[in-house]
Amino acid sequence: MTEVTLSNVVKYYGKHRAVHGINLAINDGEFVVLVGPSGCGKSTTLRMIAGLEDISDGEVTIAGRVVNDLPPRERNISMVFQNYALYPHMTVRENLGFSLVIAKADEAAIAKAVDEAAEILGLNELMDRKPAELSGGQRQRVAMGRAIVRHPDVFLFDEPLSNLDAKLRTQMRVEIKKLHQRVGNTIIYVTHDQVEAMTLADRIVLMQDGHIVQVGTPLELFNKPNNTFVATFIGSPPMNLVDGKVVGAETIELYGGLSVPVPAAARGLISDGQHVKFGFRADNLMPVGHSVQEEGEKADLELKVTLTEPLGTETVLFTEIAGNEVQAKMLNPRPVRPGEVLKFQLMLDKCHVFDAASAEAIRG
Ligand SMILES: Nc1ncnc2c1ncn2[C@@H]1O[C@H](COP(=O)(O)OP(=O)(O)OP(=O)(O)O)[C@@H](O)[C@H]1O
Ligand SMILES: [Mg+2]
Repeated sequence: MTEVTLSNVVKYYGKHRAVHGINLAINDGEFVVLVGPSGCGKSTTLRMIAGLEDISDGEVTIAGRVVNDLPPRERNISMVFQNYALYPHMTVRENLGFSLVIAKADEAAIAKAVDEAAEILGLNELMDRKPAELSGGQRQRVAMGRAIVRHPDVFLFDEPLSNLDAKLRTQMRVEIKKLHQRVGNTIIYVTHDQVEAMTLADRIVLMQDGHIVQVGTPLELFNKPNNTFVATFIGSPPMNLVDGKVVGAETIELYGGLSVPVPAAARGLISDGQHVKFGFRADNLMPVGHSVQEEGEKADLELKVTLTEPLGTETVLFTEIAGNEVQAKMLNPRPVRPGEVLKFQLMLDKCHVFDAASAEAIRG
């Protein structure tokens, strides 16, 4: 069983605290994605697990063993970086087997491990080529193959796809997910891209400024964000936030005059006069006749469209509520001119309320 745990793990670079005492338990075979904006401490955390960075305080265990003082090669992990360097003068086969040659494995064992990795990653046809004769995606697969041959307990990935173009990135995302389904190892994967996090993760760990902000399945983070940072980081487009104030116990007055009822989940948890941010996703604000028919409480709004982004099956409509730019979605789209005023419905049951001062979600 290969669980990985972090207990109160801290990292100082000189006086700068890059990681602030994080706690995390990763299950055997779990695919966990660390995601967050640049500089939030993702790579530092991964590198402490790998043994490439000293742990300033706290404890890391792999498979039940404290590894704080173990060198990387004794942790039975394999790491794939953004800038994976393949050996240019070696063939794919030689690149795949090289770490086992270094480890003085016997020839038959190397051949077997290399063939297995090639099979899993679909590299069979490419074994005699040199890296210069491969596409970006093929090179990336060789880099992953090099990690696989060592049969590690844990794979660590640090932005392995960020050097690829958008299309290849999407393809490789699927390859990595298939690899996990076949091999079933524990994977800890770092990215700043929330789409990668959403599509790959069993559980997402969202970090900000060296802290963990929220841990959960992709849908938990999407549907129940702890605060406005999570709400706007996870999901595309980001959740709309409109400033407002609670009036009485049942109503939120959005600045600019519009009133909406307090969503059921927040009822009884807010107080008269409290300043809030009222949140909802583009999917929950749709023009009449171009929406999904859902049960539940709705509010009717007339809004002027300022800009459109046609995506094919849907069009994102930009509009404004109470001075805040807001995005809506139109299903089965028809062409819309900027300046056109449309009737929209807001699905109130799907709305969120956040305290304006603390940014924390108000939810029962
Ligand atoms: N070797 C180092 N020496 C000093 N400070 C460092 C070092 N490495 C990282 N840092 C700092 O630690 C913080 C976390 O860096 P880290 O590389 O973990 O961020 P990240 O989340 O991986 O960001 P990115 O998405 O840009 O890769 C940043 O403020 C960074 O400047
Ligand atoms: Mg990084």
